[in-house]
Amino acid sequence: MSKCEITFGKMKWKNPVTVASGTFGLEYAELFDLSQLGALTTKTITPEPKAGNEPQRIVETEVGLLNSIGLQNPGVDEFIKIDLPEYRKFDTNLIVSISASSINEFASLVKKLDTQPGIDAYEINVSCPNVENEGIAFGTDPEIVFDLTKKLRETTEKTLIIKLSPNVTSIMDIAKQAENAGADGLALINTLYGMAIDVETRKPKLHNIIGGYSGPAIKPVALQNVYKVAQAVHIPILAMGGISSVNDALEFIIAGATAIAVGTYNFVNPLGTLEIIDGIQEYCISHNISYKNLIGSIQT
Ligand SMILES: Cc1cc2nc3c(=O)[nH]c(=O)nc-3n(C[C@H](O)[C@H](O)[C@H](O)COP(=O)(O)O)c2cc1C
Repeated sequence: MSKCEITFGKMKWKNPVTVASGTFGLEYAELFDLSQLGALTTKTITPEPKAGNEPQRIVETEVGLLNSIGLQNPGVDEFIKIDLPEYRKFDTNLIVSISASSINEFASLVKKLDTQPGIDAYEINVSCPNVENEGIAFGTDPEIVFDLTKKLRETTEKTLIIKLSPNVTSIMDIAKQAENAGADGLALINTLYGMAIDVETRKPKLHNIIGGYSGPAIKPVALQNVYKVAQAVHIPILAMGGISSVNDALEFIIAGATAIAVGTYNFVNPLGTLEIIDGIQEYCISHNISYKNLIGSIQT
């Protein structure tokens, strides 16, 4: 049994490593046995299919990635029919990332997914527009995050993880409201806003002009968000944002994360998650510290 086993909400993970939503699909099963991960996290699923934004949707920058995929996904019915049976083949936890445009729509989506076997947790993507609040993202308003989490808490007994956006005034207030309303855990951070311009054409490089910025450049931003949120709440944190090495993963764990997710780095090194799983365990052995004691062990 791995020494780095964790409990995250109602889930037991064999190691503390998963993948960030939208950066990792079932195609990776051709490269390694996905059962080796502590959990699998799906791309965000919505009630109806979404074609996503027009290209150009991905732009590489000096130290990160800009994307404006626009939550492209087949919709929940197709997900249940085609993808879910494939995900079930792996002996690991399954976190289904979901998004909707109103609190009731979120609740209906969870109700529908709850009828299906093989789902261990929901990751609630609150970075999407809320039609009941002038299209402003759910995740920017602590009261709305409270109401949404409370409604979903009443709807499901499965592990509920609220995924926080860094594009807010106080991520700690939002984290606390999610905790107060009954969330089992928090995932952070989603992408920062970013853009790039081609100076020859003077056109934005993304068709959508502004997109989500991820990768190594956002790591220090993510790390301080995880550190601050870890001080503010008692529920476990799934940390992400630029993690590209064992060292990066360890920094987040020492800052207070119970688990970590690898995102953009999957595109650089599809086997990076496995190297990070091994590296965390080796660190614990060579530093004679249990994984449990490593979490939040920052010396300030
Ligand atoms: C191409 C791409 C697609 C993404 N799609 C989603 C998504 O569907 N849902 C979501 O919650 N986050 C999505 N994200 C955000 C990541 O899950 C993650 O929070 C963010 O990229 C920070 O981690 P990283 O720097 O390790 O990539 C996406 C990121 C990228 C790069």
